[in-house]
Parts: sequence; C-alpha cells; structure tokens
Amino acid sequence: MPHYTGTTLIRSDPARPTRLGILLSGRGSNFLAIADSIRTGKLQGVEIAVAISNVADAPGLARAAELGLSTAVYVSKGRPRADHDADLIACLRAFQVDLVCLAGYMRLLSPAFIAAFPNRILNIHPSLLPAFPGLDAQQQAFDYGVHFAGCTVHFVDEHLDHGVIVLQRAIPVLATDDSHSLSTRILAEEHIAYTEAIARVVSGDYEIRGRRYVRRGQPSSI
Ligand code: GRF
Repeated sequence: MPHYTGTTLIRSDPARPTRLGILLSGRGSNFLAIADSIRTGKLQGVEIAVAISNVADAPGLARAAELGLSTAVYVSKGRPRADHDADLIACLRAFQVDLVCLAGYMRLLSPAFIAAFPNRILNIHPSLLPAFPGLDAQQQAFDYGVHFAGCTVHFVDEHLDHGVIVLQRAIPVLATDDSHSLSTRILAEEHIAYTEAIARVVSGDYEIRGRRYVRRGQPSSI
C-alpha cells in the first residue's frame, strides 16, 4: 500500500503562475475545458506550459496548436515505456512544468515518471472510483446498474486509477439513459471537476492524510 501522508504545495513563488503540462491521446475536451477556464479567469494563477501527446494525430493536440500553445508529440507505440517516459520527463522539465494533468492520456505511466513528479500528477476518470477503473468506465457502470455515476479527479500513483481522490462529482442515472447519454452527462461533470480540482491543488490549501485529501480549515468539506 503506498504511503501518501504529507503536505503538498506546488510551488513557493507566488509571482509566477503554476505551469501545467497536459498529456492527452485523443479529442482533448477536458484539456479544452481547462484552457477555457484559464482564458475566462475561472482558473487563476495557472498557465498551460505545454500540451503533449503520444498520438501524432490526436485532435486535442491540433486544438492546442490552434490556441497558440506549445505542443509536443512523442509517439509511444512500439517504444519501451521507460524510454518514452524519459522523453516526457525531459520535455516537462524543459517547459518548467509544476503540475502534470492527464486529460485522456491512454497510457500507463512508469514508476520513474511518477517519482519525477511526486503528488504533482492529476488524472480524471469517468467513474466514481474505486468503482469501475480502467477502460469503458461509463459502460461498465451502466451495465452494472448503478443508480449514481460520475467522475473522479485523483492524484496518480503507480496503480491504475488509484491515487488519492481530490474531487468527485456524482449524477443520478436516469431511467431514460443509455450508456451514451450517461457518458455525455458525465463528461459535462468532468469539465467542471477538472478545473475545480486544479484550483484546489494549486491553492496548496490541503493535506494528504493516509489516502485522504483534506482541505485545510474545512474539516467537514471534501
Ligand atoms: C474522459 O472521459 C476522461 O475521463 C478519460 O478519458 C476521456 C478523455 O476525454 N480519462 P477527452 O479527450 O478529455 O475529451
């Protein structure tokens, strides 16, 4: 069982925005929601330093370039994980990234990567973890017959969809839902959740006790 306890401040220089490194493999709607939150001032004191994809033609990466953001591609297919991740680490360091945000990044990270950014990697998953980790989480939840579904933003550790939970948003499953409509409604919650989770982490106003994320000064609020 990994041990998490500690206080996690992203950086100490308040004059400098916290620099995000986005990792994505696909359409990038979560990335775009984050970018939009920064643009509209919902997410303050934060900037996107670089968007990186392991898939050369990921639509999300094209959108990042259109927004004028720095982008990088490291094709992972056929490469040993350690080599690929070493390139990612070097790139994220070159862009002085403080917080790594996985936004539909469809590849497990190596232990070396996780060690390089301790408690500084977030992921979003479309289920109420620990239920339904892995692929097709919304379909898994729908088929299981849950009455509530949702999404989770969590710190990334060496296990799949497993690290400390920063924030969850739940929605009821409707009698009229199919897995597609459920996925669409979960995605809308994801777009809200990721911004809120980043704001929480960047504030530094929390502690990690055991597996628990605890907001300072708000003992009853998670
Ligand atoms: C989202 O459902 C996210 O929770 C999961 O992968 C999907 C990525 O979607 N990890 P997008 O690329 O952000 O639109």
